[in-house]
Amino acid sequence: MGDLPGARTVVEFGVGTGVYTGEILERLRPDATFLAFEIEPDLASAVAERLGNDPRLRVINDSAENVEEYLDGAKVDYIVSSIPFTSLPAGPRQSILGAAREALKPDGKMLVLQYSTTVLPYLQRLFAPIERRLSPLNIPPAFLFACSVSEGPIREEEVYDSAESDRLPYVLGALTLGTLLFLLRRRRRAKRGF
Ligand SMILES: C[S@@+](CC[C@H](N)C(=O)[O-])C[C@H]1O[C@@H](n2cnc3c(N)ncnc32)[C@H](O)[C@@H]1O
Repeated sequence: MGDLPGARTVVEFGVGTGVYTGEILERLRPDATFLAFEIEPDLASAVAERLGNDPRLRVINDSAENVEEYLDGAKVDYIVSSIPFTSLPAGPRQSILGAAREALKPDGKMLVLQYSTTVLPYLQRLFAPIERRLSPLNIPPAFLFACSVSEGPIREEEVYDSAESDRLPYVLGALTLGTLLFLLRRRRRAKRGF
């Protein structure tokens, strides 16, 4: 869903333990710039200690909504976000998504990883087109949204019209997978005799 090896400037929102940070670094070109935001000081310093000797990476212990302050006027090719938008209050969620949109190049993309589709209507207010993918083998199953700015946001009323029908295949996919895993586990337990 993204051409990271071709990117000049990449940003990560929500570094956490740095699993994606390491994976992203492996794919970046030697002269890329990679800013990685984590709001929790302990997580940010642990990842900076582990990966910070790579000159392309700067781990920033600040909220993702302040991304522009660190870009020196540059625009971003890719933002990779695993911030749990669904559990954020509306204010911070809007600030982070708005800051992401402002930071992207006209052909840039924000790759959003979530465990539900609840964030989709909020993404649709700011980004278009949005490519979607379900990753069912992830535990729990993950939803990936590749958000572009090239078409501009769709109108507010269309967001609400499309949101429910857009979510349906993903919800059904997750439900089917959950049921299959449940049945599989029950069968294994029955075989073991408890
Ligand atoms: C689901 S975890 C990230 C998982 C991560 N990919 C990993 O490998 O561990 C989400 C992270 O986003 C961080 N976070 C939440 N709000 C944030 C914000 N406004 N700015 C930056 N990071 C934030 C949390 O502290 C948390 O570490």
